[in-house]
Amino acid sequence: MKSVDALLCWLIHLAGAHTVGFSHCNKFNNRIYNFKSHTKVDPTLNDLYASQLKSMCPRNVDPRIAIDMDPTTPRAFDNAYFKNLQKGMGLFTSDQVLFMDPRSKPAVEAFASNSKTFHANFVAAITKLGRVGIKNAQNGNIRSDCSII
Ligand code: HEM
Repeated sequence: MKSVDALLCWLIHLAGAHTVGFSHCNKFNNRIYNFKSHTKVDPTLNDLYASQLKSMCPRNVDPRIAIDMDPTTPRAFDNAYFKNLQKGMGLFTSDQVLFMDPRSKPAVEAFASNSKTFHANFVAAITKLGRVGIKNAQNGNIRSDCSII
């Protein structure tokens, strides 16, 4: 944990919000279909989880379909998200990389083994995020699609 700086630590905690809620299939289907050119499934994905994702999100799925982001305890705000990362069951690349990268892996392991630490730190991180301030047309850029300025 010592090597993880404060900013990275907040980021990891915030990503823990993916322990509840839904995601549309198009947010992650690049990992289960035609991943890069040489292999079809992201090799960091757990095999069983990858096949479950494929059955819930077949090719050309209705774009309105959304699935649980936490496959084990989707209605509980708990540290299962971090335990899932240890098993290759992070839904997004940005989730799984937290366990693959040696800079964030120790933090993932700490939160996976101690739910109280996760809860306390999540409260601090999301409160900070809430104080970042709201941008409007005068001082910022309001996007209808987050990926396009
Ligand atoms: C550093 C923290 C976080 C990271 C890196 C992160 C990353 C992501 C990524 C990459 C996606 C896929 C969507 C896309 O690519 O457009 C996503 C989806 C989502 N995230 Fe996060 N997230 C974070 C924090 C949060 C928080 C704090 C919440 C809720 C309080 C949240 C709720 C969601 C939801 C509901 C979706 C699904 C959206 C959809 O399918 O339309 N995330 N997140």
